[in-house]
Amino acid sequence: MRELKDLDWKNLGFIYRPCDWRYVAEYKEGKWQEGHMSDDPEVRINECAGILQYCQECFEGLKAYETVNGDIVCFRPDLNAERMYNTAKYLCMPPFPKDKFLEVLEETVKANIGYVPPYGSGASLYIRPYMFASGPVIGVKPSDEYIFRMIVMPVGPYYKGGAKPVAIMVSDFDRAAPKGSGHVKAGLNYAMSMHAHEEAASRGYADNLFLDPAERKYVEESGGANFYFITEDKKTLVTPKSDSILPSITRRSIVYVAEHMLGLKVEERKVEFAELENFSECGMCGTAAVISPVGVINDHGRDIVFGKGLEEAGPVTKKLYDTLTGIQLGTVEAPEGWIYKIA
Ligand code: PLP
Ligand code: COI
Repeated sequence: MRELKDLDWKNLGFIYRPCDWRYVAEYKEGKWQEGHMSDDPEVRINECAGILQYCQECFEGLKAYETVNGDIVCFRPDLNAERMYNTAKYLCMPPFPKDKFLEVLEETVKANIGYVPPYGSGASLYIRPYMFASGPVIGVKPSDEYIFRMIVMPVGPYYKGGAKPVAIMVSDFDRAAPKGSGHVKAGLNYAMSMHAHEEAASRGYADNLFLDPAERKYVEESGGANFYFITEDKKTLVTPKSDSILPSITRRSIVYVAEHMLGLKVEERKVEFAELENFSECGMCGTAAVISPVGVINDHGRDIVFGKGLEEAGPVTKKLYDTLTGIQLGTVEAPEGWIYKIA
């Protein structure tokens, strides 16, 4: 039996909590050096480090869960390793090897095993791998040195509603440029969304709906998740396709679940903002967001309401949520290769 930390598992919130151990590796002299586990949450870098001057940084987000059988597992971490590899290449950073990513993941979760929330608590261990330019630059160019770290923290729901629908608003700002960096998980995308996020929060909204930056006609994603919609007849799941949104692992998974496990039709296509009123359900999906039902989208004062609005999630959203979280927690049989057992 593992020894659990003494935490209020049901009321964790989505906040930073330093755990005992984190993995640290440095890239210098043209290669990744041997990494190690560290108990030091502080980072010391040069005042002119590339991250501080030109924001050369990327990250991932995934979770570890305790299943109904008491196993500790991760959900499709090979896809996080791959996305981080692609993001690093896009940002001219030396990609962290994918097999090493999985090795380090296992080591880091095992080192902090007492922080994995118990089955049934509704919480999970959030894992944040990230890497940044640590070497000095002043001309605009990639750094010669980088640091990769993998930190973990136990978390509850990202959106305060949890399983209850939230309200979001249409942003007047863009998160990404038409041929920009929206498709990779770079910290700079989140810096770009902060102004809009604070504006939404100050008006009482949980997040923004961003429109496509070229025409402002199609639905993109929210600040921290992809979208899906359910048609009026409850038979089809529709999800936006765009080159400037993050290829969400959760979205790719629920597309499979909808099609192969729930018998729905799936349409991955451009979704016009003007069609939203035809849908009966809307949800945000992501690692932190899980599946967060959206009850209301406010468009400059006009509310678009889905199903029972903020009162209750729709039936398809409930089924998607139950199936996805059931797979993650071991109560629903997982498609081949989705569950990565750590302990
Ligand atoms: N879109 C954005 C902007 C995100 O930050 C995230 C979170 O990672 C997602 C979508 C969902 O991606 P995933 O399901 O891989 O976590
Ligand atoms: C995640 O879901 O892992 C993310 O990185 C989204 C972020 C807004 C917390």
